[in-house]
Amino acid sequence: MNSLSFANGDQFPIIGLGTWKSKPGEVYQAVLWALKSGYRHIDCAAIYNNEVEVGKALSHAFAEGIVARKDLFITSKLWNDSHRIEDVKVGIQKSLKELQLDYLDLYLVHWPVSFKKGVGFAENREQYYTYEDVPLAQTWQGMQQVQQEGMTRHIGVSNFNIAKLKELFAVGGQGPELNQVEMHPYLKQEKLVKFCKEKGMLMTAYSPLGSGDRSSSSKKSDEPKLFEDHLVSSLADKYKVSPAQILIAFSVHRNIAVIPKSVNEERIKQNLEAGAIKFEVEDFKALNAITTQYRFIDGTFFTGSKSPYKLADLWEEF
Ligand code: A2P
Repeated sequence: MNSLSFANGDQFPIIGLGTWKSKPGEVYQAVLWALKSGYRHIDCAAIYNNEVEVGKALSHAFAEGIVARKDLFITSKLWNDSHRIEDVKVGIQKSLKELQLDYLDLYLVHWPVSFKKGVGFAENREQYYTYEDVPLAQTWQGMQQVQQEGMTRHIGVSNFNIAKLKELFAVGGQGPELNQVEMHPYLKQEKLVKFCKEKGMLMTAYSPLGSGDRSSSSKKSDEPKLFEDHLVSSLADKYKVSPAQILIAFSVHRNIAVIPKSVNEERIKQNLEAGAIKFEVEDFKALNAITTQYRFIDGTFFTGSKSPYKLADLWEEF
């Protein structure tokens, strides 16, 4: 399978299975279907509240000889309430325990946003969220420590803009090796991609399909639909694939890892098969030239009137 390389040569399979929004009761089977159909990269996070079940699927797969740990790439993410230096280790240890692993391949700071201990992802954020000012440099030192202790092979971030990445590079020592952000033809993040590339970082695209299974409260009624995009649909017809596969292939052609979420066996398979699509140059150019701009995960859930954070703390452009 197609993969990207970290600076030390470690391979990062370019298509992975996303597990955000995959419910306990569904994700066990989804992970097993994925591994059986050839996925070697699973993207997880503490806040997805399903790592216990992902862990059961992984340990079953190891026991049954479906895949060996060394051939698998597992990512998890540090939640916002664990940014203090002493909490980073606690956070990764909890994920390792739940996932039943000795080490992660990649551990990410999930957001450049710090909460008080115990604050999750509440629906009523204005009432509930309590923020805590933990300097990102401190969190990053914690990340460097857990890497040095062998709990994760690689460290990186998610939802970081250029300014925030620069703060981490200023810490010295190991810089972020990867940035995972929303990316698709309606959000190409060209400035950020250029910056990350110049720094030798890899990238992962989340919500590559527009994340249509988000809760209705976080969806705008008039949001554009990537699956119904005229160009995406016409390329799907031309290449005899689905619109989802065109969207996944778009990221692969950009050398950006991509983690479509699915809990459906057929869709899990077809998403991986999208790695085989070879666009004609003109078609890839046309996808790059789509002018619609849209951010499905807009971040406003962290920037309400009681929050010290502004959208400009999160995004490059919006
Ligand atoms: P399901 O899990 O039932 O397959 P994103 O990765 O952008 O968050 O998008 C996830 C959404 O896209 C889910 O609703 C998922 O549904 C759906 N999905 C995943 N793969 C496909 C596919 N190949 N075709 C259509 N919908 C898909």
